[in-house]
Amino acid sequence: MVALLKPADQAAPPPAGRSAEPLSLRDRWCAWRDRLLADRRFQRWAARFPLTRPIARRRAAGLFDLVAGFVYSQVLLACVRLRLFEVLAEGPQTLAELASRLQLPEDGAHRLLAAAVSLDLVQRRSGGRYGLGPLGAPLVGDTAIAAMVEHHAALYADLRDPVALLRGNSEATALSRYWPYAGDQPGALTNERAAEYSALMSASQPLVAEQVLAAYPLARHRCLLDVGGGEGTFLKAVAAHTPDLRLMMFDLPPVAERARAQLAEAGLAPRATAFGGSFFDDPLPTGADIVTLVRVLFDHSDARALAILQAARRALPPGGTLLVAEPMAGTPGAEAMGDAYFGFYLLAMGKGRSRSAADLTQLLRSAGFVQARLLPTPMPLQTQVLVAHAPPA
Ligand SMILES: C[S@@+](CC[C@H](N)C(=O)[O-])C[C@H]1O[C@@H](n2cnc3c(N)ncnc32)[C@H](O)[C@@H]1O
Repeated sequence: MVALLKPADQAAPPPAGRSAEPLSLRDRWCAWRDRLLADRRFQRWAARFPLTRPIARRRAAGLFDLVAGFVYSQVLLACVRLRLFEVLAEGPQTLAELASRLQLPEDGAHRLLAAAVSLDLVQRRSGGRYGLGPLGAPLVGDTAIAAMVEHHAALYADLRDPVALLRGNSEATALSRYWPYAGDQPGALTNERAAEYSALMSASQPLVAEQVLAAYPLARHRCLLDVGGGEGTFLKAVAAHTPDLRLMMFDLPPVAERARAQLAEAGLAPRATAFGGSFFDDPLPTGADIVTLVRVLFDHSDARALAILQAARRALPPGGTLLVAEPMAGTPGAEAMGDAYFGFYLLAMGKGRSRSAADLTQLLRSAGFVQARLLPTPMPLQTQVLVAHAPPA
């Protein structure tokens, strides 16, 4: 009877959870595939049939890695905290020797080493000894990765309830306290906070500077302004690489003060100037023909990122260059880094988000920049580089 009361031409709404959009051919194919993959009998068959067995095993292992990934990270944390890679860099050692060096009971040392072997961090050697594995060897003395691994304790705590985080129901997160400028009400930045996050950024900065310097020839410029330049670590790398460039940096006052000290200590005071201020409230210094934004935009919402780009545009002369360097979403081969890792890291931190090169290009256009182009970097996982120009006069 209720149906009779409906206007005759009103179509029945789709069942709850189903989009009103008609199913495409691809949707139908995917629905068939999904039913097949969820079917226990098919799963058993695929695991036994010689042609599907490798795929079934690879998929099962991939799924298990997602389920267990947080444990792997904690195994790495234990290795880093115990300085296991540095100890193994001295040469292969037995379980008893390692247990003593790491101050672990033999059972604990054995458990850690077995886990680290399974993750390719450590390798079994002859005579029951252990040496560095292919993933452990590059970590020897790598303070940047060690600092990130330690720092992840805060992210780990914030991700305990990911659904609350996504719904915006979380209490103030550990990362929002760590990066006080990233929220809607940044508040005052204390020297202590500035020192803590600036040191973390400095530790990983050389990896990023290497990518930028390999991707873009700075020697064609006269004066570079690094906006959100942290302690000046990027400027120091630029100074060593491009001796004739004049250098300026701009950051929040407590950070700029640290940069001033660092640049002076590096003997760069005559050619490098650090300016303190906020790019939301204060004009950027003028005089540079290239402005760099290195790992700055992804910390902020679209509206704020646009405001930063507009400030950079005002600081540049006609035809001036803007260089944006940061890890980007949708980087081929590193998709999980942009959308999963940075997606959730930046959510825990505040309002930032990782953007694809296309998203950033759109923002650059909205800020009045032209001729945006993505430059290839040797290790796009660490950073990608986009260059654009202020319109000519
Ligand atoms: C993620 S860090 C990147 C630092 C450096 N560019 C690097 O790659 O190592 C972002 C930087 O932006 C600075 N920043 C944040 N908000 C700012 C603001 N309103 N004005 C100026 N700098 C700001 C921070 O102090 C910090 O140094």
